[in-house]
Amino acid sequence: MEFPQALRSLFSRNPDSLASVGKRVEELEIRLGQFISLVSLKDQLPPIPPKHLQIRVAGAYYPTFFQHGKDMFYDLEDFLKREGLSLFDFDSILDFGCGCGRFMIPMSFLLPPKKISGTDIDKEAIQWFKANYPCFNDLDVNGFTPPTKYADATFDFVFSVSIFTHLPEEMQHVWLKELSRIIKPGGCGIFTTHGENHFHHLNQAAREELMTKGFYYLMRDATDGLPEFYQTSFHTGEYVQREWSRYFDVLAIRKKGVGKSQDAVLVKKRIKADR
Ligand SMILES: C[S@@+](CC[C@H](N)C(=O)[O-])C[C@H]1O[C@@H](n2cnc3c(N)ncnc32)[C@H](O)[C@@H]1O
Repeated sequence: MEFPQALRSLFSRNPDSLASVGKRVEELEIRLGQFISLVSLKDQLPPIPPKHLQIRVAGAYYPTFFQHGKDMFYDLEDFLKREGLSLFDFDSILDFGCGCGRFMIPMSFLLPPKKISGTDIDKEAIQWFKANYPCFNDLDVNGFTPPTKYADATFDFVFSVSIFTHLPEEMQHVWLKELSRIIKPGGCGIFTTHGENHFHHLNQAAREELMTKGFYYLMRDATDGLPEFYQTSFHTGEYVQREWSRYFDVLAIRKKGVGKSQDAVLVKKRIKADR
């Protein structure tokens, strides 16, 4: 039986369900119309990044791209609350490795965008982002190694989702040092890692090295549009606690704390550089 015929037969047996579907569709149409008329008061719908830029950061093209950004925003907020902090209280926030805006675009509806800056090595993504979202404080292309253009102690909060999950060990160190430089004393950061939840991607030998050293850098094919060094890194919690403490106080590590996948590391810049 063809689908429309099946539907027709279902509804002829149950005219009430046809009426209720019709009513629901009508309601949805009205809501959508109201939504479009509200958005059009602002002259345009929010621009959506091109498909290949979304795939570059998320590995796929899917309808919940921005929903993920928004959900992860609330993951950060939830983690910060543990320290009595809130994204809504910071005056200056940096998204380190912002890509084409999976986080920053939904964030711009939740916080004043003038408080938010973003930086990434991906020139094409930043070019698109700058042209389409002039509302942010700043969008910049940084080099593969530090420094960024930002002055010492610029930001209250820096977050970096899925960046330290891709860097070789030495690059991780120089970037942690740089992020520590640009965060205000007493300011915080949340950076994600591939923790235990991701160790099953490694073979036995790699896992042994990871467990001995605490860090493993897996070389595979390059990601289209990104440099060769951009691979996949894994961290144990002990390694993060030990090594990242050179640059920050490591306040907490929340397993699968962002997107129910990557570990989230909450760090605080020491008030006095005592190490
Ligand atoms: C998996 S994507 C995540 C992007 C974004 N944070 C998100 O969650 O949608 C990783 C991003 O890190 C950027 N990246 C890699 N190395 C970087 C570096 N040293 N400095 C800034 N961005 C970097 C890449 O260009 C890419 O946009």
